[in-house]
Amino acid sequence: MKNLTTIADLRDLRKGWRQAGKSVGFVPTMGNLHNGHLQLVREAKKHCDVVVVSIFVNPMQFGANEDLDAYPRTLEADQQKLMSLAVDALFLPTADIMYPKGLDQQTFVEVPGISDVVCGASRPGHFRGVATVVTKLFNMVQPEHAFFGEKDYQQLQVIKALVEDLSMDIQIHGVPTEREASGLAMSSRNGYLSDEQRQTASTLNALMLSLRNDILQGERDYTALEAKYSTSLNDAGFTTDYVSVRHARTLQNATADDQDLVILIAAYLGKTRLIDNIQVHLS
Ligand code: PAF
Repeated sequence: MKNLTTIADLRDLRKGWRQAGKSVGFVPTMGNLHNGHLQLVREAKKHCDVVVVSIFVNPMQFGANEDLDAYPRTLEADQQKLMSLAVDALFLPTADIMYPKGLDQQTFVEVPGISDVVCGASRPGHFRGVATVVTKLFNMVQPEHAFFGEKDYQQLQVIKALVEDLSMDIQIHGVPTEREASGLAMSSRNGYLSDEQRQTASTLNALMLSLRNDILQGERDYTALEAKYSTSLNDAGFTTDYVSVRHARTLQNATADDQDLVILIAAYLGKTRLIDNIQVHLS
């Protein structure tokens, strides 16, 4: 596996692959890799001749009071995991390489509408930071395919929209969420949880499945369901940010006529913000 820190080295490697007619798959990450990320790599290897992974903890997508400094950085362990999957190249840019003029002077990419709801409403500027860094990484790596977890459902929709809106020739693949045996969705932020919080955390998935079941049983008063499950989460020990039933593609509030829905949940356990989601298809 080649470890690259400069855009010039990455472009050189990319040029060779283009000349050799190799298709490139890309998995952007912020490191602290768990099985969810490794699943993205495995999927990329199925579709592409060569696979590039990036690790960059992107300051632009963290709010002022969020966990940028505390975000777990585990480079050596990450490199071992990627080498064991025979990843071709690991791109490790610094903040100076990504944002040489500083964040304030950086041109940004903003996807209107879907960036402003649910997580976007709770974390203003977050999806602008994601869309900007992903656009820059796409321009650097120039992949034919890119792989993102469905765990970050709204992020995946934002990236699909930006690729379409900016006419990028990149196929975006959503990869199903990897879960612990308890049902807890895998996330780098799970590492912040105490043993007791970890046990509580699995309730989030259980309540989400119960909400989905209510919808499948014919319940269509989504506002009432959202209120009911927000209370259940609070009773279980979370501080609910939102429980929201949305149209699966537009992420607008679901109406009783919509067939393709997604349940999106964000809730805090102590200071740790957990998110999860599940799609519901009605026929
Ligand atoms: O999902 C993530 O890890 C990040 O949001 C991403 C896509 C790597 C952009 O920084």
